[in-house]
Amino acid sequence: MKYFTLDQLVSINGDGENPARYAVIGNPVAHSLSPQLHQPALDALSAKARYIRVEVEPGQVSTAFDKMYAAGIRGINVTVPHKLEALESCHTVNPAAKIMGAVNTIVFDSNGLRTGFNTDGPGFTRAIREDFGVDLGDLKVIIIGAGGGAGRAIATQCIAENCSQLILANRTIEKLAPIKKELTTMAHRDALEGPRDRIEIIALDDPDLEEAIAASELIVNTTSVGLKSIDPSPFPSHWVEPHHLVYDTIYNPAKTRLLRDSEIQGARTANGLSLLLHQGALSFEYWLNRDAPLEAMRNGIKNATKD
Ligand code: ATR
Repeated sequence: MKYFTLDQLVSINGDGENPARYAVIGNPVAHSLSPQLHQPALDALSAKARYIRVEVEPGQVSTAFDKMYAAGIRGINVTVPHKLEALESCHTVNPAAKIMGAVNTIVFDSNGLRTGFNTDGPGFTRAIREDFGVDLGDLKVIIIGAGGGAGRAIATQCIAENCSQLILANRTIEKLAPIKKELTTMAHRDALEGPRDRIEIIALDDPDLEEAIAASELIVNTTSVGLKSIDPSPFPSHWVEPHHLVYDTIYNPAKTRLLRDSEIQGARTANGLSLLLHQGALSFEYWLNRDAPLEAMRNGIKNATKD
């Protein structure tokens, strides 16, 4: 079964298989890789539990959470387009997730009350450590596509980690002013000394973008440019220099034009598989209150993404 609908949930846990305890909601949801990540992890711990996909219509997220809890589900991942509606449908929201404007992980307490988290940001910190062997907080960062959901989550994480420089770049510059304002408030509130007055915003077509990239150590692509194999790089990739670390949140295709060109320029590169892995591992940790079996999850993703 590729996915269930809400109406099918009622009878889901009497079918003789392991009970469905965890799920991802989205629309469409059939192509979500979350089950390939989480089921091997549950199996590795011999948990008698299934991880399923549930297709939910926009406007139905709160109802879905209620019905899923009633059906026996105890942890939920949220994917597009429901991350904002999920935030609005929680009883409690983690403060960082509030600033990110998106919730991708739901944890239930013993009364069924739900708390929303966003593991994309903290997952990114782990991904950078794994791929490049450095701490995100030690880097000068530029985010290409900071107006989108992933870009905003990563930008928030950069502030939480106290990066010494954060440049937000986006095709639509108007989206960036409110994000900068929110992040600046967060930096002041948390009395962070690093990036507070060093959050800059820039349009993708601004002639100063080349200089902004040159001044950065970590370049992160969070635009959707690269999802199609014929896509160009989201900015002129000959601007990449050997000192750069280049992270593309896209993992399919495994090597976007940006990553291929960056390698030719002599830069170190990584794709979004490590973010997929670590955001999932963090959800798993929230639900089961224990370390996630990373190798099982890694193998699961490898199997799901191999051609
Ligand atoms: P999300 O679900 O993450 O919000 P999205 O709305 O598709 O995804 O936006 C992802 C990012 O890709 C945005 O920063 C978007 O730029 P705009 O805010 O200007 O729309 C960016 N993006 C999408 N197509 C693009 C393109 N052709 N060139 C540059 N940026 C693009």
